[in-house]
Amino acid sequence: MLDLLYRRRSIRKYKPEKLDAQTVQVLLKAALLSPSSRGFQPWQFVAVDDSEILTQLASSKKGAGFLKDAALGIVILADPSKSDVWVEDASIAATILHLTSESLGLGSCWIQIRERQFSESETAEQYVRRILYIPDNLKVASIISIGYPDQSKSPYLDGDLGFDKVHINKYGSKY
Ligand SMILES: Cc1cc2nc3c(=O)[nH]c(=O)nc-3n(C[C@H](O)[C@H](O)[C@H](O)COP(=O)(O)O)c2cc1C
Repeated sequence: MLDLLYRRRSIRKYKPEKLDAQTVQVLLKAALLSPSSRGFQPWQFVAVDDSEILTQLASSKKGAGFLKDAALGIVILADPSKSDVWVEDASIAATILHLTSESLGLGSCWIQIRERQFSESETAEQYVRRILYIPDNLKVASIISIGYPDQSKSPYLDGDLGFDKVHINKYGSKY
């Protein structure tokens, strides 16, 4: 696990290869296995592999353009009426998808949708909802773009870790 965490990076360049159905299913199983507060599982997922729809989603905000070249985008939705901590639950599912992608030799990147803008008059969430016909009761948290990596990034080193942010027993008592 720690090796995977050192290696994990946000990958935004993808090869044109598509993912096979079994790989997509493994990713979806991983997301559905995520822990959630009180086991309420307030999430829903839209797995998008249609390149036209991926291209539309790539315009949902600045900093999402690379989604058009991904093999898959998994849109993470949540129902706030099912859990008051849906943001945390949706974030955990996003992280599990990101880490599972790495474990399968895939590259992936989190695309933040919640609290982001498509334009001055439309939020990124409203835009994604419009493109994917998502009902109004569901929030759009994020999209995880996934594909075979077409860039390599250095793994993290111990020197990158910022142990100065760790305190022992009480704040200010350095590790
Ligand atoms: C909550 C969250 C939101 C993020 N949103 C975006 C995003 O919208 N677009 C993007 O390209 N990367 C996004 N990222 C990826 C971060 O930019 C990336 O994790 C960070 O720069 C560290 O790089 P690394 O993942 O390679 O370690 C997001 C990451 C997190 C955790």
